[in-house]
Amino acid sequence: MRGAYLKLFAICLVSAPAVVQAGYVQLPGLEVPSSAAADRDSVVRIFSQSYNAYRSVAFGHDEVAPVSQKPLDPRNGWGATIVDAMSTMYIMNLTDFFEEALNFTQTIDFTESKTSGTVSIFESTIRYLGGLISAYELSGKQHSFLIDKAKQLADRLSLGWSRGNTIPFGFVDFSTNQPIIQTSNIAEAGTLTLEWSRLSEYTGNDTYRKLAEGSVLKIASNVTYLYPGLPGQGIDPATGNPVGGYVTWGGGSDSYFEYLIKYAQLSNTNNNVFADSWLTAVDSSIKTLVKTSTIGNHVYLADFDDQRLIRHVGSHLACFYAGNWLLGGKLTNNDTIVNLALQLNDACWNTYAGDATKIGPEVFAYISSDGNFTGDSNPSDDQIAFYQEHGYYITDAVYVQRPEVLESNFYAWRVTGDPVYLQRAQSAVASFQTFLSTPTGFTGIYDVNNPQTEKIDETESFWFAEVLKYLYLTFDDPSHISLDDYVFNTEAHPLLAPKAESTYGSGQLIPSTTNKFVLRPGPLPAVSPLSLGLNLNLGLL
Ligand SMILES: *[C@@H]1O[C@H](CO)[C@@H](O)[C@H](O)[C@H]1NC(C)=O
Ligand SMILES: *[C@@H]1O[C@H](CO)[C@@H](O)[C@H](O)[C@H]1NC(C)=O
Ligand SMILES: *[C@@H]1O[C@H](CO)[C@@H](O)[C@H](O)[C@H]1NC(C)=O
Ligand SMILES: *[C@@H]1O[C@H](CO)[C@@H](O)[C@H](O)[C@H]1NC(C)=O
Ligand SMILES: *[C@@H]1O[C@H](CO)[C@@H](O)[C@H](O)[C@H]1NC(C)=O
Ligand SMILES: *[C@@H]1O[C@H](CO)[C@@H](O)[C@H](O)[C@H]1NC(C)=O
Repeated sequence: MRGAYLKLFAICLVSAPAVVQAGYVQLPGLEVPSSAAADRDSVVRIFSQSYNAYRSVAFGHDEVAPVSQKPLDPRNGWGATIVDAMSTMYIMNLTDFFEEALNFTQTIDFTESKTSGTVSIFESTIRYLGGLISAYELSGKQHSFLIDKAKQLADRLSLGWSRGNTIPFGFVDFSTNQPIIQTSNIAEAGTLTLEWSRLSEYTGNDTYRKLAEGSVLKIASNVTYLYPGLPGQGIDPATGNPVGGYVTWGGGSDSYFEYLIKYAQLSNTNNNVFADSWLTAVDSSIKTLVKTSTIGNHVYLADFDDQRLIRHVGSHLACFYAGNWLLGGKLTNNDTIVNLALQLNDACWNTYAGDATKIGPEVFAYISSDGNFTGDSNPSDDQIAFYQEHGYYITDAVYVQRPEVLESNFYAWRVTGDPVYLQRAQSAVASFQTFLSTPTGFTGIYDVNNPQTEKIDETESFWFAEVLKYLYLTFDDPSHISLDDYVFNTEAHPLLAPKAESTYGSGQLIPSTTNKFVLRPGPLPAVSPLSLGLNLNLGLL
């Protein structure tokens, strides 16, 4: 996600950090110790090796399969790794890679899919639109073709709204120019505002912003269906109505919540609904979802399902919540939220610290004084033994190069300046070098608790966009891509932020009018699987 330091420095001067401002996010005057330079260099080496592994066999395709040495095209074949990696290249000053990527980007034709697959509005927005717009800003707004390409793609994606609907359908068939008529979720429908509003600014066409905002406002207007501020995961674009009531900060819902506060920061909009909805979601979550494990007192956000059952589960995806609560807690000057966020962050890191590889699993679970219901079977004897030792147990042991735990760790470092977060990032780098490296690049693993684990044959584009960027910036001069100057999209593409407001929101939470459901704590008898099947592991960012 970024080019030369010199140019970047000029950008930073233009948007001077908002020091002595009530709403500043970063600890003022924070510096990294001189030893961090070596850690930063290690991350650049991992990036270069991973990217060269992609370049040598898969350049122009979406991803590389680094074990079998083949190209993969899960993102419509437009070169997802290149576009997703550009902002990181710029930030790492990898100018040759960046130049090459600029050259390639000019040749992408976003008007048709290069694969038979339909096109995801959400995935294309966060990776392609986010990557292009961020590269445009970081490189000094000189390469206007980056915006032309983003516009070319967005004009096609806007077919997702072509049935008079306010919530976009999740997928568009570019060969028929029709949306795919099916249920969506609040993450897919609610994670577009940052990118689409920026595109409106740079193209002068306000339609993009209106489409993205309209979708979020519709979701937020349905908040009273469950707890205020906590809409269920499923949503029907045809009607705008909720589908089921599964509430989670994890996949399928996650970045809807994430963007509420980030959009308030990016836009400084006068419309308080965004910040108020975020604060209400956090407030309701504190009242209903914050739980503590019986071993280790680890603090996590549980889910609750369609049957109002609390599920004591956690996931790598959901762990973005710690960084997001840190950001929002600072922007709204709320120490209660900041302090809880630091506890959530510790618990997420604990899911790395307890595993044999010191890398965290995809899905895990807890036992709390409030119960142990996970929606699944009771823990096995092995899981209970693991829980007794570590205060969580693993229910899906893969690591697919996700960023969220290290993303939150990055926020914790920039907000508090506590060196423990640098040590955690160092630990992760060492584990990645040991367990994720292939003869050419870096990849995922099937079992984080087994040092002899098999490798997954796919290098995700968000390894470049997110994991390596957050690690690099953790070790870099904190004034570089400061959280007071940039807002990161959910794919870690930084977008220029305006000077912060003194606070965000109206000061009033959104009231509950139909809060008629009473949560039932576990332990409980086994229930049948979700009627709507929405609690899928959707693999969202
Ligand atoms: C960035 O890279 C260029 C050329 O590769 C080099 O001249 C310059 O000194 C580098 N800047 C920084 C801040 O490392
Ligand atoms: C980018 O394209 C220009 C013009 O075709 C060429 O001169 C340059 O070598 C290319 N740069 C890279 C890094 O591929
Ligand atoms: C703005 O963008 C929308 C969505 O692609 C398009 O339908 C509309 O024609 C554009 N308006 C102008 C004035 O170009
Ligand atoms: C959802 O919101 C729409 C309007 O935005 C409203 O018509 C509908 O009744 C709401 N549904 C529920 C269940 O709240
Ligand atoms: C901070 O947020 C919590 C949770 O919503 C709330 O209870 C508290 O009143 C807020 N504190 C301030 C100072 O706004
Ligand atoms: C979880 O709850 C079930 C049902 O009440 C109970 O039988 C089981 O022993 C509990 N397991 C643990 C590890 O607490």
